[in-house]
Amino acid sequence: MRTRILLNLVLAVTAIIVFGCEKKKNIAAAEKPEVKEKKKMSITKESYGKTPDNQTVVLYTLTNPNGLKARVMNYGAILVSLETPDRDGNFADIILGFDTLDGYFTEHPYFGVIVGRYANRIGKGRFMLDGVEYKLATNNGPNHLHGGVKGFDKVVWKVENVKAKDDTAMVKLSYFSKDGQEGYPGNLNCSVTYTLTKDNELRIDYEATTDKTTIVNLTNHAYWNLAGQGSGDILGHELMLNADKYTPVDEGLIPTGEIKEVKDSPMDFTKPTTIGSRIDQVTGGYDHNYVLKGGVGKLTLAARVYEPTTGRVMEITTVEPGIQFYSGNFLDGTIAGKSGKAYKKHYGFCLETQHYPDSPNKPNFPSVVLKPGEKYNSVTVHKFSTK
Ligand code: GLA
Repeated sequence: MRTRILLNLVLAVTAIIVFGCEKKKNIAAAEKPEVKEKKKMSITKESYGKTPDNQTVVLYTLTNPNGLKARVMNYGAILVSLETPDRDGNFADIILGFDTLDGYFTEHPYFGVIVGRYANRIGKGRFMLDGVEYKLATNNGPNHLHGGVKGFDKVVWKVENVKAKDDTAMVKLSYFSKDGQEGYPGNLNCSVTYTLTKDNELRIDYEATTDKTTIVNLTNHAYWNLAGQGSGDILGHELMLNADKYTPVDEGLIPTGEIKEVKDSPMDFTKPTTIGSRIDQVTGGYDHNYVLKGGVGKLTLAARVYEPTTGRVMEITTVEPGIQFYSGNFLDGTIAGKSGKAYKKHYGFCLETQHYPDSPNKPNFPSVVLKPGEKYNSVTVHKFSTK
């Protein structure tokens, strides 16, 4: 009996001591906030080399707390790489391009560049503005493509601003395009801002002003492969485009002016469909502008792409009325890209948010005219996730 009382007493005392300690521990925890280091957005800068005419090129690496890394340089305002995780957390670079700056001086199909002053084609390189006919440089058969012989993709941009905040890391680049350059009227001041967010988005903001009525259409020409650059073709990617119409083209890839329903045709991506499932029915592969349901000026979902083997998902929202879906038809394996990988046909796809091709010659297409006093503003956001 006495032993039992003693035992109970011992137990009670132990309980009080233990409880006391716990309480102390809790108080200590409450007093001392968790000291776990919060990961931040960061930016690093390095010299990337010189252009053939001795201009300095710098490379910025933007990193977010989840490990996403975007590299941007001021030559061509090029998005050099983008590393994102797959569903198991393995990171890969999902953009085609080169390992060194020199690669970008060779002839290449606009890997990661900013295209301007006018992205896509202008038929015969001609258009009328305020009763005057302008003749642009022609560099795609009889047509003008992606800003001409020396577009915004082949010039050194000025670094305007570089800033890492709590939720974002951004690099703002600017370029001054002279009146008459490649045939375009008006001095154009433009800028492109790449912003990586903590929510795994890469946002691209475009701005421009002019001193004379002109035309503007800027876009980014990244080639994506969500399984990792150089890892094979993109025909197994599932694509959804928020568009039920597109702009049919002639043999020179100039829109005919017609706006056609995609329904009951291999152009229909209103529901997620693998890129390769009907590509054989499209002459030359996909290289078409889709008419986005969102229209002009409202940030709306344009496309969603899913790569089944890695689980990577990319969602694109934009204020642009169109998106050029290009299935890398002209890649032919002759270019050795990053890590010496040969980029063969369909090894990458582009989704270029933009106004429609040849708009200056198509009165029924949304206008690309920019007047003095007006501000050109465009935004496209790429959001990355996995499923
Ligand atoms: C765009 C065009 C294509 C092709 C590529 C670059 O996507 O629409 O026809 O010119 O650029 O090769």
